[in-house]
Amino acid sequence: MDETKKENGSDKQREVAPSTALGYLEPHYWDDRFSSEEHYEWLKDYSHFRHLILAHIPPNSSVLELGCGNSQLSDEMYRDGIKDLTCTDLSPVAVDRMQRRLLSKGYKEIKVMQADMLDLPFGDESFEVVIEKGTMDVLFVNSGDPWNPKPESVNKVRTMLEGVHRVLKPDGIFISIAFGQPHFRRPLFHSPGLTWSFEYSTFGDGFHYFFYIMRKGKRSLEDEESGKKMEVPSICLLQEELEGEDYIFRNSIGDDPSD
Ligand SMILES: C[S@@+](CC[C@H](N)C(=O)[O-])C[C@H]1O[C@@H](n2cnc3c(N)ncnc32)[C@H](O)[C@@H]1O
Repeated sequence: MDETKKENGSDKQREVAPSTALGYLEPHYWDDRFSSEEHYEWLKDYSHFRHLILAHIPPNSSVLELGCGNSQLSDEMYRDGIKDLTCTDLSPVAVDRMQRRLLSKGYKEIKVMQADMLDLPFGDESFEVVIEKGTMDVLFVNSGDPWNPKPESVNKVRTMLEGVHRVLKPDGIFISIAFGQPHFRRPLFHSPGLTWSFEYSTFGDGFHYFFYIMRKGKRSLEDEESGKKMEVPSICLLQEELEGEDYIFRNSIGDDPSD
């Protein structure tokens, strides 16, 4: 059974989506939503990118997840032997419910705590892997022209990336699973001071989602050169994609009534 399709059905979407995409920027929106919603998987569920997780995260890695929401990413990684997990979210409701759910499953080793991805409460070089799925995408809501995002959005994304870079161990990797296409994301991942390399894989049918991998300390001349090349956006949407909440989120750029 495809849980994502069931959870992301259009009826569900009408129940939980905010009236405009700006709602995704409101912490109380997420608290309200998580107080009644058991599970919603943004983008695709684990089965679609499991092969990429297993290829990039050795089982004994210390892993920090940003913006876990009520996703089952941590459960799935745990079942695959990745047990040193710290799940975080800005929403205290999400954190509380995640903690209860994981304990009820007996996954006691997984740490769950409230944390703002813009101000990570961890020491330098604490984790081997930082992972996020659909969380960084929130920062692009109302960011304006994707080719030239608003400075306040760029500043927030850079603040987040600097924090992730700081908490990663010297050979650590940052995995970002996202809607945002490489031509928009690469310049941000290559912001000044970030020493990581940049590569990505795609997954999903029809519309491709992106599995970005940044390796700290591994930025090369080749990364610099490839960053200068213009990539042409390619968007191919299937009807299934147009029906999910993800579609609203993906198209939220510039959704500012005052624009
Ligand atoms: C689009 S949902 C993705 C949830 C989950 N990762 C998934 O794949 O289903 C975005 C999540 O980011 C969280 N979030 C929003 N702003 C945040 C912030 N500043 N720091 C940490 N989490 C944040 C929300 O509470 C929500 O759980």
